[in-house]
Amino acid sequence: MTTPFRDGLPRPQRPTKIDEANMKKIPIVAFCFIAQMVLTESSGWAADARHGEQIAHRWCADCHVVAPNQRRPTSEAAPFATVARRPGFNAEQLAFFLLSPHPKMPDMSLTRAEATDLAAYIKSLSR
Ligand code: HEC
Repeated sequence: MTTPFRDGLPRPQRPTKIDEANMKKIPIVAFCFIAQMVLTESSGWAADARHGEQIAHRWCADCHVVAPNQRRPTSEAAPFATVARRPGFNAEQLAFFLLSPHPKMPDMSLTRAEATDLAAYIKSLSR
């Protein structure tokens, strides 16, 4: 039996055992959330070459030959396939290169994921 308050309203319910158990889970759930965010961020290195190809067509094709079927642009910039076939080509180094502003090249303000995707796409051109 619940004792009514003086104004006659029923007493607000105390949290049940189940509620308390759920409250204790909140830090665990929050931790999983953060862990997932961190993992997703670092899996920026699980590059998406198809996305890189889209970026290349949109932002790089003015100056670079970004695909085998593209006609040569009027620029001294190296075709991406040439870059990819160079000895010692390294996609991670290329991604870092793309993140730092480069003389003669506009600063594209690429995100790390975009740079990684571009590098993966350029790497795929070496085959
Ligand atoms: C405005 C023209 C322009 C645009 C747009 C441009 N680039 Fe370049 N890029 C150049 C030029 C010019 C060079 C040669 C730079 C040099 O020799 O210092 C270059 C060099 C590079 C190199 C080094 C090539 C080498 O010979 O080692 C890479 C890699 C590269 N660009 C990637 C990209 C990517 C990826 C994009 C798109 C996000 C892009 N560029 C957009 C003009 C451009």
